[in-house]
Amino acid sequence: MSQSETARLYIDSKRVIGEISPLLFSGFAEHMGRCIYEGIYDPASSQADQNGLRQDVLAALRELNYRSMRYPGGNFVSGYRWEDGIGPKDQRPSARELAWQSIESNQFGTDEFMHFCREIGTEPMLAVNLGTGSIQDAANLVEYCNASVGSKYADMRAANSQSVPYGVKYWCLGNEMDGPWQIGHLEAAAYGTKAREAAKLMRLHDESIELVLCGSSSSKMPTYPEWDRIGLEMCWELVDYHSMHYYADNDADDTASYLAHSAALEDYVDTVAAVLRYVKAKTRSKHEVYLSWDEWNVWYKARSEDDRRGKWTEAPHLIEEVYNLEDALVVAQWLNVFLRRADVLKIACIAQIVNVIAPILTKSDDMLKQTIYYPLLMFSQMASGNSLDLLVESPRYETKNYGDMPLLDVSAAYDGARGQNTIFIVNRSQTERVPLEIHWQDVAPKRISSAHQLAGHDPKAANTWENPNQLTTQAIYAPQIIDGKAEMSLPPLSFTALGVEV
Ligand code: AHR
Repeated sequence: MSQSETARLYIDSKRVIGEISPLLFSGFAEHMGRCIYEGIYDPASSQADQNGLRQDVLAALRELNYRSMRYPGGNFVSGYRWEDGIGPKDQRPSARELAWQSIESNQFGTDEFMHFCREIGTEPMLAVNLGTGSIQDAANLVEYCNASVGSKYADMRAANSQSVPYGVKYWCLGNEMDGPWQIGHLEAAAYGTKAREAAKLMRLHDESIELVLCGSSSSKMPTYPEWDRIGLEMCWELVDYHSMHYYADNDADDTASYLAHSAALEDYVDTVAAVLRYVKAKTRSKHEVYLSWDEWNVWYKARSEDDRRGKWTEAPHLIEEVYNLEDALVVAQWLNVFLRRADVLKIACIAQIVNVIAPILTKSDDMLKQTIYYPLLMFSQMASGNSLDLLVESPRYETKNYGDMPLLDVSAAYDGARGQNTIFIVNRSQTERVPLEIHWQDVAPKRISSAHQLAGHDPKAANTWENPNQLTTQAIYAPQIIDGKAEMSLPPLSFTALGVEV
């Protein structure tokens, strides 16, 4: 292993990018494969509590401290009849689920999801069906969840579960409606009309809800970013967030480029943020719309036809991606981007939370934490307050996809109330240690109180059922701060999280 030239990081707590929204650490649970059934809800498991929820999974989800949870899809939602999933379980119909060609038993539905959210201390974020569903169905679901008793759907809720309204605040107006694969796919203007009318009815039930408009389902879509502009121009005043979706891949097996992926992610945010500015100016509005990156993750290994077709079975094994070290380093960079663009990004949901492209996997009564679990955990536990605009001087390297890139990818937060500064650093080098000097420019920190690192030699190494703890975050020696400066050396292929007492 060789050593590169020294990198320098300059921190000034007054150089603020934006307040870090806690909702950046949110999740997404879809009725797909084994996410809900066998993942969250598995009455047959010895791990199940009296409501059928897996306690091992609940404990891991609590540890990750997801601030909100998007549900029930995904592509699933565009064919979902939410009324099939409420009421006495023995009277709920099984249905052929078209998005993933599976059998949906409807044993887990809206009321079970609300209970699950309470169990893990997260805010529900419900998507309505704007594929086969009508604007009336969408409005009825808001009534079911948020209205006081005294009308049809609110009374149904009271009969099924509780009389007090759930008060669901976050609502998504459909899912990936730009995608030709989507059930009930719509052209941009048709979606704009349907989303606007659904939003209007939903808000008539509850003026306090916050709505997420569907943006492009990826920056690779041919209709991007026109789709975004058209929908936003039609719905601007009625919505609060605009969605982004993206799945990163290393199909080319070019690890150097893959590890520089934050360049593509940042470019995507810049473009959609520019569309927001444009539409706000064009509509002469005083209203703000923020970004909700409500599906993000690495997904490319488990993408075959077989991975996506359930062959009309219940809880089939679909897209159960195995995550390795390089994937975890891309996930860490994604979280760095969330902090660096905290001014405009306010919600982000990792897709998904259990089994289906997820940080945790279940196998009968066992559970495995994948590599990507660890950067998520560090950010979710540590990042709060304001994100900081850092000055980073880093040695650089050449990539095929993004040209010349810095070896280090860094973000930082400053939380005056907690007296804490946090720093997150990825070393993208596959071979070189990078010596790092950290300089605090305005505040004199007391000490580095915690230092954790995920690192390894093989970018393709993963945690397995046989060797579940091969790649986890380890506590490392916390460097001393002398005269406002600390020095450390970052191993190749590493992610480091520092907590600094200020
Ligand atoms: O998360 C898996 C799928 O990816 C979702 O159902 C869909 O929205 C996206 O295309």
